[in-house]
Amino acid sequence: MDPLVVADPTAITPGLDILSLLVLHGPNLNLLGVREVGIYGSLSLEQIDQALHQQAHSLKAKLEILQSNHEGVLIDAIHRARQQHQGILINPGAYTHTSIALRDAIAGVGLPTVEVHLSNIHRREAFRQHSYIAAVAIGQISGFGAQSYLLGLQALIQHLRLQAS
Ligand code: DQA
Repeated sequence: MDPLVVADPTAITPGLDILSLLVLHGPNLNLLGVREVGIYGSLSLEQIDQALHQQAHSLKAKLEILQSNHEGVLIDAIHRARQQHQGILINPGAYTHTSIALRDAIAGVGLPTVEVHLSNIHRREAFRQHSYIAAVAIGQISGFGAQSYLLGLQALIQHLRLQAS
Protein backbone atom coordinates (compact mmCIF):
# COMPACT_ATOMS: atom_id res chain seq x y z
CA MET A 1 0.00 0.00 0.00
CA ASP A 2 1.19 3.50 -0.76
CA PRO A 3 1.85 5.44 2.45
CA LEU A 4 -0.09 8.69 2.87
CA VAL A 5 1.23 11.18 5.38
CA VAL A 6 -1.29 13.76 6.51
CA ALA A 7 -0.13 17.13 7.86
CA ASP A 8 0.08 17.59 11.61
CA PRO A 9 -3.31 18.78 12.94
CA THR A 10 -1.49 21.05 15.40
CA ALA A 11 -0.69 23.18 12.36
CA ILE A 12 -4.07 24.86 12.89
CA THR A 13 -3.59 28.46 13.92
CA PRO A 14 -6.57 29.72 15.92
CA GLY A 15 -8.30 32.73 14.42
CA LEU A 16 -7.43 32.02 10.79
CA ASP A 17 -10.31 32.21 8.34
CA ILE A 18 -11.48 28.98 6.73
CA LEU A 19 -10.24 28.78 3.14
CA SER A 20 -12.43 27.32 0.44
CA LEU A 21 -10.62 25.46 -2.33
CA LEU A 22 -11.54 23.57 -5.48
CA VAL A 23 -9.79 20.26 -6.17
CA LEU A 24 -10.05 19.00 -9.74
CA HIS A 25 -9.11 15.57 -11.04
CA GLY A 26 -8.99 15.21 -14.81
CA PRO A 27 -9.67 12.29 -17.14
CA ASN A 28 -9.04 8.67 -16.16
CA LEU A 29 -8.19 9.53 -12.57
CA ASN A 30 -11.43 7.82 -11.52
CA LEU A 31 -9.56 4.60 -12.40
CA LEU A 32 -6.82 5.14 -9.82
CA GLY A 33 -6.02 1.95 -7.91
CA VAL A 34 -6.82 -0.12 -11.01
CA ARG A 35 -5.09 1.81 -13.78
CA GLU A 36 -1.36 1.25 -14.39
CA VAL A 37 -0.67 0.76 -10.67
CA GLY A 38 3.08 0.56 -11.31
CA ILE A 39 2.95 4.20 -12.41
CA TYR A 40 0.04 5.68 -10.46
CA GLY A 41 -0.03 3.57 -7.28
CA SER A 42 -2.66 1.40 -5.68
CA LEU A 43 -4.68 4.03 -3.83
CA SER A 44 -8.14 4.77 -5.17
CA LEU A 45 -9.32 8.31 -5.89
CA GLU A 46 -11.71 8.00 -2.92
CA GLN A 47 -8.76 7.25 -0.61
CA ILE A 48 -6.86 10.26 -1.94
CA ASP A 49 -9.92 12.49 -1.55
CA GLN A 50 -10.37 11.29 2.02
CA ALA A 51 -6.75 12.16 2.86
CA LEU A 52 -7.19 15.56 1.20
CA HIS A 53 -10.30 16.32 3.26
CA GLN A 54 -8.45 15.24 6.41
CA GLN A 55 -5.46 17.46 5.66
CA ALA A 56 -7.68 20.38 4.62
CA HIS A 57 -9.54 20.11 7.92
CA SER A 58 -6.30 20.16 9.89
CA LEU A 59 -5.18 23.25 7.96
CA LYS A 60 -8.52 25.03 8.34
CA ALA A 61 -9.69 24.73 4.77
CA LYS A 62 -12.70 23.14 3.13
CA LEU A 63 -12.67 21.44 -0.23
CA GLU A 64 -15.02 20.93 -3.14
CA ILE A 65 -13.65 17.93 -5.04
CA LEU A 66 -14.65 17.04 -8.60
CA GLN A 67 -13.39 14.42 -11.06
CA SER A 68 -14.40 14.59 -14.70
CA ASN A 69 -13.42 12.92 -17.92
CA HIS A 70 -14.75 15.92 -19.86
CA GLU A 71 -12.79 19.06 -20.61
CA GLY A 72 -15.85 21.34 -20.63
CA VAL A 73 -17.00 20.11 -17.21
CA LEU A 74 -13.59 20.96 -15.75
CA ILE A 75 -13.66 24.37 -17.43
CA ASP A 76 -17.15 25.14 -16.11
CA ALA A 77 -16.01 24.18 -12.59
CA ILE A 78 -13.03 26.55 -12.89
CA HIS A 79 -15.35 29.37 -13.99
CA ARG A 80 -17.70 28.76 -11.04
CA ALA A 81 -14.74 28.70 -8.66
CA ARG A 82 -14.24 32.44 -9.22
CA GLN A 83 -17.31 33.13 -7.07
CA GLN A 84 -16.89 30.29 -4.59
CA HIS A 85 -13.25 29.48 -3.89
CA GLN A 86 -9.92 31.10 -3.19
CA GLY A 87 -7.65 28.65 -4.94
CA ILE A 88 -7.48 25.56 -7.15
CA LEU A 89 -5.56 22.29 -6.83
CA ILE A 90 -5.62 20.40 -10.11
CA ASN A 91 -4.36 17.19 -11.59
CA PRO A 92 -5.37 17.80 -15.20
CA GLY A 93 -4.42 14.25 -16.28
CA ALA A 94 -3.75 14.04 -20.00
CA TYR A 95 -5.32 17.50 -20.53
CA THR A 96 -2.06 18.79 -19.03
CA HIS A 97 -0.41 18.11 -22.35
CA THR A 98 -3.22 19.09 -24.72
CA SER A 99 -5.58 21.67 -23.32
CA ILE A 100 -5.07 25.32 -24.11
CA ALA A 101 -8.73 25.75 -23.10
CA LEU A 102 -8.03 24.53 -19.55
CA ARG A 103 -5.00 26.79 -19.34
CA ASP A 104 -7.07 29.77 -20.54
CA ALA A 105 -9.78 29.03 -17.97
CA ILE A 106 -7.22 29.06 -15.14
CA ALA A 107 -5.63 32.24 -16.46
CA GLY A 108 -9.10 33.75 -16.96
CA VAL A 109 -10.33 33.31 -13.38
CA GLY A 110 -7.00 34.36 -11.92
CA LEU A 111 -7.24 32.07 -8.86
CA PRO A 112 -3.93 30.79 -7.46
CA THR A 113 -3.60 27.28 -8.85
CA VAL A 114 -1.27 24.41 -8.00
CA GLU A 115 -0.73 21.66 -10.59
CA VAL A 116 -0.05 18.16 -9.30
CA HIS A 117 0.84 14.83 -10.87
CA LEU A 118 1.22 11.42 -9.30
CA SER A 119 3.99 10.45 -11.71
CA ASN A 120 7.03 12.54 -12.57
CA ILE A 121 5.90 13.78 -15.98
CA HIS A 122 9.40 15.10 -16.71
CA ARG A 123 10.96 11.66 -16.75
CA ARG A 124 8.28 10.00 -18.84
CA GLU A 125 7.46 10.04 -22.58
CA ALA A 126 8.37 13.22 -24.45
CA PHE A 127 4.68 14.07 -25.03
CA ARG A 128 4.13 14.21 -21.25
CA GLN A 129 7.02 16.53 -20.58
CA HIS A 130 5.23 19.68 -21.69
CA SER A 131 2.47 21.13 -19.54
CA TYR A 132 0.12 23.82 -20.87
CA ILE A 133 -0.91 24.41 -17.27
CA ALA A 134 2.49 25.05 -15.68
CA ALA A 135 2.82 28.62 -16.95
CA VAL A 136 -0.48 29.68 -15.33
CA ALA A 137 0.08 27.76 -12.08
CA ILE A 138 1.90 29.13 -9.06
CA GLY A 139 3.77 25.83 -8.98
CA GLN A 140 3.83 22.18 -9.95
CA ILE A 141 4.39 19.07 -7.83
CA SER A 142 5.07 15.93 -9.80
CA GLY A 143 6.32 12.46 -9.01
CA PHE A 144 5.40 11.78 -5.38
CA GLY A 145 2.40 9.55 -5.98
CA ALA A 146 -0.63 10.40 -3.87
CA GLN A 147 1.65 12.56 -1.71
CA SER A 148 1.83 15.03 -4.62
CA TYR A 149 -1.76 16.01 -3.85
CA LEU A 150 -1.09 16.54 -0.14
CA LEU A 151 2.10 18.49 -0.80
CA GLY A 152 0.23 20.56 -3.37
CA LEU A 153 -2.61 21.29 -0.99
CA GLN A 154 -0.18 22.32 1.72
CA ALA A 155 1.67 24.61 -0.71
CA LEU A 156 -1.55 26.20 -1.96
CA ILE A 157 -2.85 26.87 1.55
CA GLN A 158 0.48 28.31 2.66
CA HIS A 159 0.59 30.54 -0.42
CA LEU A 160 -2.93 31.86 0.24
CA ARG A 161 -2.24 32.45 3.95
CA LEU A 162 0.97 34.34 3.15
CA GLN A 163 -0.84 36.39 0.51
CA ALA A 164 -3.54 37.32 3.04
CA SER A 165 -1.10 38.32 5.81
C1 DQA B 1 -0.89 12.33 -14.66
C2 DQA B 1 0.17 12.33 -15.76
C3 DQA B 1 -0.47 12.48 -17.13
O1 DQA B 1 0.51 12.45 -18.14
C4 DQA B 1 -1.45 11.34 -17.39
O2 DQA B 1 -2.09 11.53 -18.62
C5 DQA B 1 -2.41 11.18 -16.28
C6 DQA B 1 -1.94 11.28 -14.90
C7 DQA B 1 -0.26 12.03 -13.27
O3 DQA B 1 -0.93 12.31 -12.29
O4 DQA B 1 0.86 11.52 -13.19
O5 DQA B 1 -3.59 10.89 -16.50
O6 DQA B 1 -1.48 13.61 -14.59
